[in-house]
Amino acid sequence: MLTIAIGADHAGYPLKEKIKDFLLLKNYRVLDFGTNSTESTHYPLFAREVCLSIQRGESQRGILICGTGIGMSIASNKFKGIRSALCFNEYMARMSRKHNDANVLCLGSRVIGEELAFSIVEAWLSADFEGGRHTQRVELIKQMESTP
Ligand code: RB5
Repeated sequence: MLTIAIGADHAGYPLKEKIKDFLLLKNYRVLDFGTNSTESTHYPLFAREVCLSIQRGESQRGILICGTGIGMSIASNKFKGIRSALCFNEYMARMSRKHNDANVLCLGSRVIGEELAFSIVEAWLSADFEGGRHTQRVELIKQMESTP
């Protein structure tokens, strides 16, 4: 079973708690990197912790939540080996796995409702990378990580 690192800022915190319960019910292992309240904080701090957890190999996937999901996606895509996808529906979530091999899912708690968020997470976790022609494209992205 996958280990999923999860993180959110104050705007994403309530949805993070719900998604954490959803994942635990489905028997995923969850590493929660905060935040743990609705007190104002800074989303890059939590993006960093989730990405470092994946880089260390202690988790295979990450889920990051802020108000729009945009800040989390910008911040997480700065980390080597992280392919982070901001998804607003199940189709985007599925395709981010099949074509982009996304290992981080970003959600906007002020953009989508709780039920849609669960469906997106489920679609994302159920889909696999298709490989084939997409492997070369992901490799091209990896090459960019080592160029200035
Ligand atoms: C916080 O107000 C908000 O800016 C943050 O959650 C996020 O939406 C940033 O991208």
